[in-house]
Amino acid sequence: MASVSKRYPVRARDFLHAGEASIQIQAFLKAMGLDAGLIRRIAICSYEAEMNAVIHGGDGELEMTLADEWVTLEVRDAGPGIADIELAMQPGYSTADETAREMGFGAGMGLPNMKANADELRLESAPGRGTRALMVFRREAAGGGAP
Ligand SMILES: Nc1ncnc2c1ncn2[C@@H]1O[C@H](COP(=O)(O)OP(=O)(O)OP(=O)(O)O)[C@@H](O)[C@H]1O
Ligand SMILES: [Mg+2]
Repeated sequence: MASVSKRYPVRARDFLHAGEASIQIQAFLKAMGLDAGLIRRIAICSYEAEMNAVIHGGDGELEMTLADEWVTLEVRDAGPGIADIELAMQPGYSTADETAREMGFGAGMGLPNMKANADELRLESAPGRGTRALMVFRREAAGGGAP
C-alpha cells in the first residue's frame, strides 16, 4: 500500500456538524486496524484542530493521509489567522467567545493537547491568511513492533 487520503470539509461556526470529520477519520483508522492508542491520539488531535477551525477559524478542510509508516493530519482554514503563534500555544490562552464558552470550549488547551499527542506539530498562520495545522504520527511508535 502506498498511501490513502481522506478529505472532509470543515465549516466555520457550524456547531451542528462540528466534529463529524474527526469521527469519520477515527472510524476509518479503526477499520484499517491501527493500534487503539495511536487512533486515540490521532482522534484527539483531529478533534481539537477541527473545533479550532469551527470556533476561531473559517471554512476549510481536514485531510488525513494514511501511509505504511505515518499518518498525517492537515487542517486548513481560511479564517482570520493567528497573530502570535507562541502565545496561542500557551496552555490556558484563549480568545473563545461567549457562545463557544457556553458549549464548554475555551480552556485554551486544544493546541497544547495537539502538541502533546502528535509526534510532530507544525502550525502555520498569519493575520488575514488563515491557519494550517500539520500533524505527523509515527505508526510504529504505538504499534508494539512488527509481528
Ligand atoms: N484555526 C484558528 N484560527 C484562528 N485562531 C486560532 C485557531 N486555532 C487556534 N486559534 C487561537 O489560539 C487560541 C488557543 O487555541 P486552543 O485550541 O489552545 O484553545 P481554545 O480553542 O481557545 O480552547 P479549547 O481548545 O481548550 O476549547 C484560540 O483561543 C485562538 O485565539
Ligand atoms: Mg481549541
